Amino acid sequence: MAKYELGETLFTTEEIAVRVRNLARQISKDYGGEEILMVGILKGAFVFLADLARCLTTPVRFDFISCSSYGSATKTSGVIRLHKDQDVDIAGRHVLIVEDIIDTGLTLSYLLKNLEARGPASLEICSLLNKKHVDGKIDLEIKYEGFAINDVFVVGYGMDYDESYRNLPYIATLKK
Ligand code: IMP
Repeated sequence: MAKYELGETLFTTEEIAVRVRNLARQISKDYGGEEILMVGILKGAFVFLADLARCLTTPVRFDFISCSSYGSATKTSGVIRLHKDQDVDIAGRHVLIVEDIIDTGLTLSYLLKNLEARGPASLEICSLLNKKHVDGKIDLEIKYEGFAINDVFVVGYGMDYDESYRNLPYIATLKK
């Protein structure tokens, strides 16, 4: 397998913190005190979800789905595998899916269809990063987006390459 190392820093810890606070402010305002069920997509979203949730001023519950389209490579396999389903019944709840990064949109389009069928009161997406200009990208409505980035592979702040780098407190590219 090719060896990779960290490239440039795309977003510093401070830049991420500011954006997360702003997203939380917008979300708290939009839900106006209604309880949100945050559904984090494991594993990548765990850092973002923890920081975002602690900035919210609206009541919140949590659930997690584990789902992947990547093996150990840096390109999607195109096949979604559900490793862990939800524990909480989402019927009638305001569900906010929290994702670390959207690449082709395949993972989220699969999850949206799956969760919509369970009758939530509302269903929205919050993703820290969204890759633009990706070939074959699925058009999704992303209500809350942290940063739009180019089609580069990134790690840190929850995101991995072959399970490494998730604990980096900033977001960097990966280079060969
Ligand atoms: P999609 O289904 O193609 O949108 O891929 C989304 C999933 O792929 C994310 O939840 C991540 O787990 C993973 N992913 C996509 N791009 C990257 C990246 O640049 N770094 C790390 N993981 C990524």
